[in-house]
Amino acid sequence: MNSRDIKAWVALQLHAEELKGVHLKELFELDADRFNKLSVSTGRFMMDFSKQRMTTKTLDKLLDLARQQELSAWVEKLFSGEKVNVSENRAALHTALRSPSSESLSVDGQNITSDVHESLAKMEGLVQKIQRGQWRGYDGSPIRSVVNIGVGGSNLGPLMACDALEQYAPTDTQRLDVHFVSSMDGSELEKLLPTLDPAVTLFIISSKTFSTIDTLANANTARQWLLDASSCDASLINQHHFVAATGNVQGALDWGVPKKNQLLFWDWVGGRYSLWSAIGVPIALKIGMVNFRAMLNGAHQMDKHFRDAPFEKNLPVLLGLIGVWNINFLNIHAHAILPYDGRLAEFPSYLEQLEMESNGKSINHENKRINYRTCPVLWGEVGSNAQHAFYQLLHQGTEPVMCDFIASATRYKNEGAQLQEQHQLSLANCFAQSRLLALGTGALETSVKAKDYQHYDGNQPSTSLMLDELTPETFGGLIALYEHKVFVQSVIWEINPFDQWGVEKGKEVATSLLAELNEKGKGGLDSSTEGLLRYTLSQGEGSNREN
Ligand code: F6P
Repeated sequence: MNSRDIKAWVALQLHAEELKGVHLKELFELDADRFNKLSVSTGRFMMDFSKQRMTTKTLDKLLDLARQQELSAWVEKLFSGEKVNVSENRAALHTALRSPSSESLSVDGQNITSDVHESLAKMEGLVQKIQRGQWRGYDGSPIRSVVNIGVGGSNLGPLMACDALEQYAPTDTQRLDVHFVSSMDGSELEKLLPTLDPAVTLFIISSKTFSTIDTLANANTARQWLLDASSCDASLINQHHFVAATGNVQGALDWGVPKKNQLLFWDWVGGRYSLWSAIGVPIALKIGMVNFRAMLNGAHQMDKHFRDAPFEKNLPVLLGLIGVWNINFLNIHAHAILPYDGRLAEFPSYLEQLEMESNGKSINHENKRINYRTCPVLWGEVGSNAQHAFYQLLHQGTEPVMCDFIASATRYKNEGAQLQEQHQLSLANCFAQSRLLALGTGALETSVKAKDYQHYDGNQPSTSLMLDELTPETFGGLIALYEHKVFVQSVIWEINPFDQWGVEKGKEVATSLLAELNEKGKGGLDSSTEGLLRYTLSQGEGSNREN
């Protein structure tokens, strides 16, 4: 924390001391109105944080901290296009990607709202052409399968959205098969390609930089597959079978994607914040442009809420501050994301990148090493499956873990009683688990004393986030809520959530090791890496690396 102003931080430290040793069970017994005081309902979301190890006093002190850190001013900087990504000298304007055209924003003399809407219009034209069967493959057949090739933010967001919103895909002839390929080693392509008809398959190369080796390696393999299958020349294949979603026009052009097949976005869109941009084209292809725009609108509603709602009723602010409370004052450094909805199966992976790549930092705005904790280790799984995997550790392990339970109140309105019952079953499990985690064995009214090994301590804090139902709008709102939560925490921690220098370094090291594997390197590495290289080369033919 900035040494100029640590009052609110210290107040929270003292308060945490006071609360130490108070069990969540006691907090519920002490205040029958706890839920009403520690929950917020707004629009189509309800957030219950009464199962957090906190009181209304804690909340007041956290709100003081937010004010001390000038959160309101930072929110305005974010929305107005200030260069909040200092290390890369860029704005972070993902919110502009979902702004309606009526709310125009100019940055450095450029009307970026009109740029965004022009790009959306180009995307719409392309989506409609493909959906209507007017985009033809090399032999004149209409495209029916789409494969997104991308990694990180150019994969996780669209993959998650396509999975979550599958029920909104058209059921008629406009329906497209949409697949995702990300892994550098070619495993996904190896399995997928034999199932596809090359003449009707379109590849989207999704890469902001158009230089990510994982993506280019997959794109090259895909093109070779098409060349082999069609016996056409590369330029025809590039024109009919490749689209690029990118910020690098020249890079895509050099690879072979003609300009008319390029959907562009800008350097002020961070990779992990890019599903609202051209990177979202697989989503639009899957669920149609109307639903894609509904998703943007849902995110925009959350943006307005984040910008305008008072902190004490502001979902992203509260979610962010609760995390700070757990991490910095209760010393909890593991965070489980538990959607009780199979449609959100990819949500934990998406959040792993959003949260850990954004806030996995230890240098502050003044370029100094900080002396407090930032982003925790975050992981997750569909809750009901996780119950049969890692919940044992949550219930009886030695690690304190904070949990986010996410569910929609209603589902299967038109699908019949059987599926509705399954939804009820899932909700019952969701509520039961947060209750048991909070109260421990005390959650069960039984006169039989639990044996030691049957005892659950409880006191594991959780937040339950309820959506009225999962739709493109609420899905958009949910993702924007977490984006802003991450921003709130970055402001408290005084770090830049929009760069990822650690990841970039990894790419450099990999490039030099590829040379070593190809026996063109200089050697002189650490003995472990040398040993791994020697082993690998000895398994292949013609190894001449010296021992
Ligand atoms: O390697 C991490 C990363 O830089 C992410 O931030 C990004 O989402 C991903 O790579 C993909 O980058 P690109 O879209 O430029 O291929």
